[in-house]
Amino acid sequence: MSTAEIAAPAVGKAGPAPYIGAMNVLGIETSCDETAVAVVNDEGDVLADLVLSQIDEHAPYGGVVPEIAARSHIDHLDPLIGRAMDEAKLAWSDLDAIAVTAGPGLIGGVIVGLMEAKAIAAAHHLPLVAVNHLEGHALTARLTDGVDFPYLLLLISGGHCQLLIVDGVGRYQRLGTTVDDAVGEAFDKTAKLLGLGFPGGPAVEKAAQSADSKRFSLPRPMLGRDGCDFSFSGLKTAVRHVMEAEEAMNDGDRADLAASFQQAVVDTITDRTANAIQMFHAIHPGASTLVVAGGVAANKALRQALETTAAAHAMTLVAPPPRLCTDNAVMIAWAGLERLRLGDIDALDIPARARWPLDPDAASAAGAKA
Ligand code: KG4
Ligand code: ZN
Repeated sequence: MSTAEIAAPAVGKAGPAPYIGAMNVLGIETSCDETAVAVVNDEGDVLADLVLSQIDEHAPYGGVVPEIAARSHIDHLDPLIGRAMDEAKLAWSDLDAIAVTAGPGLIGGVIVGLMEAKAIAAAHHLPLVAVNHLEGHALTARLTDGVDFPYLLLLISGGHCQLLIVDGVGRYQRLGTTVDDAVGEAFDKTAKLLGLGFPGGPAVEKAAQSADSKRFSLPRPMLGRDGCDFSFSGLKTAVRHVMEAEEAMNDGDRADLAASFQQAVVDTITDRTANAIQMFHAIHPGASTLVVAGGVAANKALRQALETTAAAHAMTLVAPPPRLCTDNAVMIAWAGLERLRLGDIDALDIPARARWPLDPDAASAAGAKA
């Protein structure tokens, strides 16, 4: 098997024995290149948390190949669900619902997870909760830190880069979004240009450690502009131009370029977030929580900078542990629980969705993909 399991360190309130009587939800996540299954209860206890990464299968291609991802989910999902139920020490009859990512994501993988969830729901007469993957990221801080609504959310992942007000479950107001690439995409493309491997975010972060972030001067797209939209494609192109202009780059040069890129991202994101905080405060003057979520939120330099930005505006930054920033099924089970509590369940004919914005009413930013 060329997939690799990501070990589950204790996160949040992981580990306790289940107590029968709590609401227990099985979560399934297959929207990208992680096959993930978790069991969470409404006390916030994580009873099982399994993530099988397909990185090794996609690495030779320098990015996620949708067809390979979908086939790998088919191969691994069933046994992973069995293991999660064993670890949680629960029988099917102890479950209160099945929560599953129904989009947005790579449609083949989403269909695999959704079909499996529907089959389990039908066979065991359990409610199905079709979860928006982005809502999984968005609500994680309520599991890990008990954050109350409303809060300002910076959602930064491989496919999205947005600032939103979270007023409640299913209630989002988008303040800004990227007009071109998502920030995780920019990390991944930059890593590829620098030959640092895949996935790019952790590779760039590692290379940037103790490198010179002032060595190369790179653009800070959107910096200083009104509003809180983002743009990253020019930054990626600037990295390519530096690569082309340099005669021969050694590992140290590449590390300096990685650090310069990361600093440009940090400067841009903190500038846009500061504007979003002002917009948030105009609507919710007393609210003081800034949540960062999504895979890029695992980046330590960014977390530190955001902490400073938040403090400068009398806000508190909440960043879930890195394992719960990158894709996982705990967040899907938790979002499912939040919806279940509101009686918000789905029919078994609900479709998989490749695109599914959190705020469907938001006007699209000029040139934006989503
Ligand atoms: O949320 P996520 O796991 O999947 C999506 O929903 O897209 O985010 C994956 C993205 C990838 O682009 C990856 O390179 C980036 O998150 N990422 C990071 C770090 N860890 C993951 N970017 C910067 N620094 C990191 N430490
Ligand atoms: Zn994600």
